[in-house]
Amino acid sequence: MEEMYVEWSRQARSAIEKPVPVRFNRGIRSVIVAGMGGSGIVGDVLSTLSSNYSSLPVITVKNHILPGFASREDLLLVVSYSGNTVETLRVFDSALERNIPMVAVSSGGLLKTRAYEHGIPYIQLPEGLAPRASLPSMLYGVLKLLYENNLLNIPFKIVEESVDFLEEKTGEAMAEAGLIAEWVHRSKGLLVISTHSPLESLGLRGKNEFNENAKIPVKVDVAPEWMHNDIVGYEEPFFKDFTVLEVVDPGDRVGVMLVDFMRTIYGRVTKSFHRLVLEGGSLLDKILYGSMVFGLSSCKLARMRGINPLKTASIQEYKKAAGAIFSA
Ligand code: PA5
Repeated sequence: MEEMYVEWSRQARSAIEKPVPVRFNRGIRSVIVAGMGGSGIVGDVLSTLSSNYSSLPVITVKNHILPGFASREDLLLVVSYSGNTVETLRVFDSALERNIPMVAVSSGGLLKTRAYEHGIPYIQLPEGLAPRASLPSMLYGVLKLLYENNLLNIPFKIVEESVDFLEEKTGEAMAEAGLIAEWVHRSKGLLVISTHSPLESLGLRGKNEFNENAKIPVKVDVAPEWMHNDIVGYEEPFFKDFTVLEVVDPGDRVGVMLVDFMRTIYGRVTKSFHRLVLEGGSLLDKILYGSMVFGLSSCKLARMRGINPLKTASIQEYKKAAGAIFSA
């Protein structure tokens, strides 16, 4: 599975080279991104970028319910790598009923079939990847769509440069990933990803990658909100086996100081720390670099544990049951 991450710059490049499937000839109030897991993270990352670059508000929907406020003034992006995720398909169906403008994104499945049946613009993803490993295809496909429709304030040069950056940094990301995997494997405690705003989406991405590829539970702590609740939980925890992976943007002085402060609190219960300093010039570079390190390190950790990173048996078990649950 590691090779899917190593190919990320190629995925991103081919996504931004593809023509966009639709041009909207009117204003859009906000972008709503519906998707679950490895597809849903596209909405989180887009929302981080959009806040940072003052683009349109981005709302993420990671469930089966299209928000009541969604209207014909919004644009709904329905993202499902497989195209068969029941929650995402339900949002698609509700949007059809309510006439919400949409673009569907998948590698195939029912979403593709339904999009064609109903004349919904569609972005085709490459087939044969793990959903979570196809982040660049989904994210850059969507960034290009928004850019070509004047819905993105991020200079496209930043998007293009991030692809070159990813290519250049792949070797470094692999080396960093090896260190993290070995450290987590040695430490064995509950992995805590400790980071700062506005890196919430990256922290979440890290959690999801270690969950799905390495099959371990993970907690995400984000400052400064952490200082207003989680911090107290480290006063009297039931157990002290925490392994803290700090993730910092070195260009964000406040962010680094917040994470330094977090260490003084964790230090009362654990001595196990590793710091990932994000590489890159733009926020997009940094999120992609961190995501690549997480993808590769979680796969390496899986291998060290004799586990197949690609297989997600319990998600498949849930997906088999989900049809019945949602039609109950
Ligand atoms: O990365 C994964 O495999 C999962 O998190 C999936 O993305 C999630 O189960 C949703 O499936 P899909 O991306 O096919 O809609």
